Amino acid sequence: MILVTGATGYIGSHTVVELISHGYSVVALDDLSTSRASTIDAIESITGVKVPFEKIDLKDKAALLKIVGKYPIDGVIHFAAHMAVGESVLNPLKYYENNLCGLLNLFHFMDQSGCKNLIFSSSCTVYGEVNKVPVTEDFPTQRPPSPYGNTKKIAEEIIEDLAATNKLKSICLRYFNPIGAHPSGLLGENPDNMNNLMPLLLKVASGKMESLKVFGNDYKTRDGSCVRDYIHVMDLATAHVKAYQRLAAKESAVAVEKFNLGSGNGFTVLEMIHAFEKVNGIKINYKIEDRRPGDAAEIFSDSKLAAEKLKWKTERSLEDMLSSAWNREKTYRQNELR
Ligand code: UD1
Repeated sequence: MILVTGATGYIGSHTVVELISHGYSVVALDDLSTSRASTIDAIESITGVKVPFEKIDLKDKAALLKIVGKYPIDGVIHFAAHMAVGESVLNPLKYYENNLCGLLNLFHFMDQSGCKNLIFSSSCTVYGEVNKVPVTEDFPTQRPPSPYGNTKKIAEEIIEDLAATNKLKSICLRYFNPIGAHPSGLLGENPDNMNNLMPLLLKVASGKMESLKVFGNDYKTRDGSCVRDYIHVMDLATAHVKAYQRLAAKESAVAVEKFNLGSGNGFTVLEMIHAFEKVNGIKINYKIEDRRPGDAAEIFSDSKLAAEKLKWKTERSLEDMLSSAWNREKTYRQNELR
């Protein structure tokens, strides 16, 4: 059985669905601070499986340790973390406390459960400011531009230290920019929590916001706006299943592996807007604004290592990402109106 923390969150919920469709049994854990318990029902509607759910805040070590032995846990996929970059700058303590204390408590849980296998949800932000693309896993990690990013970098370092004592085997997955949603429209990120491009673009599309700010059009890129590597969340979810299979089959000679998860293609902000308009037939109002501090001009992945070792590659197109995201937004807004 696999424990998925942050299971009602955006990437967590999609991964639970993928795990179930690959025959795994899952126990879902979340503190519901930024997600909803109804996601468990949505997972049941999609898969036909009622997943056991534990509402636990990982900072509450006693509550977490209380469930040691309750389920036969073979591995953990750890998503539970705060992830709003801007908020982390304003309130770093909240981020260090939640993302790192939660992880430390999880290690105690794993130790007491006799479980060594951990898939860790990391981010390409661990590479800090990159001045070369595509990004390969052997790029040095550097101080990320935000406390949120720094919690990911520090967490990877803690994982390395624990793995060196044979207490842990881990795969850290460094995501590029996940977008899109399950085709049912029943799962997705809470668009009201986020300051990332896609949730804001969806807000403009649904009339909740007048226009989208495009942060800079004077970068040295195709059209002057920033380039990012967008990846469909369902492709990302599949990568977690493949990573878990690799970990459980002890295929790696080393205790910790790190993989980039991206499509290997970059799109500019303006290309994203125009592709969204074309795919969904909706006009997006936008305004060019000043650059956003901390933004790199261009970042995209080299995901060859994941292709080779995880036998994984992205399968869904940009069109799939943009249409499924819009489908999800419509479902979300309809439910909100009810
Ligand atoms: C950000 C984080 C990254 C985190 C990821 C989570 C930073 C520096 N990086 O990545 O650590 O893992 O989110 O998903 O914050 N944009 C606009 N207008 C908007 C919003 C965004 O033009 O209103 C542009 C940005 O300038 C950027 C691109 O869209 O070029 C993507 O931005 P965003 O979705 O926020 O992701 P990242 O900044 O790449």
